[in-house]
Amino acid sequence: MPKKHILGDYHYRRAKEIGYRSRSALKLREIFSKHRIVRKGDVVLDLGAAPGGWLQVAREYVGEKGLVVGVDLARIAPLPFNNVVLIQGDITSPATVEKIAEVLPKPVDAVLSDVAPKFTGIHDLDHARQIHLARVSLRVAEHFLKDGGHAVFKVLMGREFHDFLKELQKHFSEAITVKPRASRPSSAEVYVVCKGFKRMD
Ligand SMILES: C[S@@+](CC[C@H](N)C(=O)[O-])C[C@H]1O[C@@H](n2cnc3c(N)ncnc32)[C@H](O)[C@@H]1O
Repeated sequence: MPKKHILGDYHYRRAKEIGYRSRSALKLREIFSKHRIVRKGDVVLDLGAAPGGWLQVAREYVGEKGLVVGVDLARIAPLPFNNVVLIQGDITSPATVEKIAEVLPKPVDAVLSDVAPKFTGIHDLDHARQIHLARVSLRVAEHFLKDGGHAVFKVLMGREFHDFLKELQKHFSEAITVKPRASRPSSAEVYVVCKGFKRMD
């Protein structure tokens, strides 16, 4: 078996052993431990949150006093914490944005976006649809993120990536591309870690 598959299986098994709902939870944990995106007591908004692996990691970091709000088209099975709020909805819909506003006590400290369409296997099409959703996440972030807040966007690499990265660099003091060890080197996914949101209003 090629080494990359063995590694992929290793990270999948490891995520399951720790009790995470997704393999990508380990990637987010790696990013959080290196880049200090979320602290105890923070309010975090997670877009494209089902089945809930990133929610579990965000809850670990914010602790009992913080708040994590997860949004997805799909229903997310409840997590055993009363400070994890789940919203079933489409992030492109104004009704979902209103629902988010209703549950947030204050501007959010960090936005996470792992939103992704159903993939067709046609790379250019999957990339264009994924970047579109990541841009919608950025619009939602602009609405709710506090001045100086942070964000993480998962993005499928492709020809629109650099324009999107430039857009992120306009909105944040820093936006860098990272590839966690738990992410298969052959996969087209990358993570953009953004710090210091610049509120325009
Ligand atoms: C890769 S999964 C997220 C995995 C999640 N971060 C975890 O660790 O469990 C991408 C999610 O984006 C969601 N999604 C796609 N389009 C969406 C939309 N328009 N609004 C809300 N969620 C959407 C999908 O339903 C899917 O659950």
